[in-house]
Amino acid sequence: MQIPSFHIISLLLLAAFLGACRGQPSERPPIHTQYNMYWQERFNAQQENPFFADRRAMRTPVEGTVARGHLEDDPAYFQGVNADGSFVEEIPVDITRSFLEQGQKQYNVYCTPCHGGVGDGDGTVSDYGYIATSLHTDNVREMPDGEIYSAIYNGINTMNSYRHLIDVENRWAIVAYVRALQLSQDAGEEDLERLNLDPEQFATGE
Ligand code: HEC
Repeated sequence: MQIPSFHIISLLLLAAFLGACRGQPSERPPIHTQYNMYWQERFNAQQENPFFADRRAMRTPVEGTVARGHLEDDPAYFQGVNADGSFVEEIPVDITRSFLEQGQKQYNVYCTPCHGGVGDGDGTVSDYGYIATSLHTDNVREMPDGEIYSAIYNGINTMNSYRHLIDVENRWAIVAYVRALQLSQDAGEEDLERLNLDPEQFATGE
């Protein structure tokens, strides 16, 4: 009796298929049938490339190139300034409790070493004779929000910029928290009324 070749081929395929399942992990590299996917011609970083006049394989991006997600095209939000260059008066972000708490965390990390926990300028570094200014001076109280933002973004006088450590959202969160600190140290009766608190309760007895 002649076995139909179709059955033989099916059996061989099945055997090959089952044989491929070894059932245990192997240390040996897999068998490649298509090597050209692995060994493509290409230039590695730092390699020489005779195609270009300067013989560098790595090309610099075209001037003015902006990395994805880094188009900072809103000066009020990214630099804290209006179109005319003046500081924005108010934080251009909705302020929620969690936003303030985010600002508190960031402030505690980046600003307390110098400005102190409540912002009165007696951070740890003052033990070593380095003096940061208080954030409870009339000067800082009267700054527009954008100017405090700018202190973080650009630095201010002898204070360095913290732009590269603190991203834009956290910078504004810190500004919001600095405002909360200022209120905590300098609330007047009108603030208590605004917050629906009874001034009697907070009387200092002066
Ligand atoms: C390494 C210490 C240091 C750190 C950290 C630091 N500051 Fe300052 N900051 C200073 C000093 C010093 C000054 C005073 C600069 C001057 O006028 O020469 C200053 C000034 C300022 C002023 C302006 C005060 C004024 O009266 O003009 C603001 C606002 C301010 N800092 C905010 C911040 C915030 C917000 C952070 C956290 C992101 C921060 N600083 C982190 C040292 C620091």
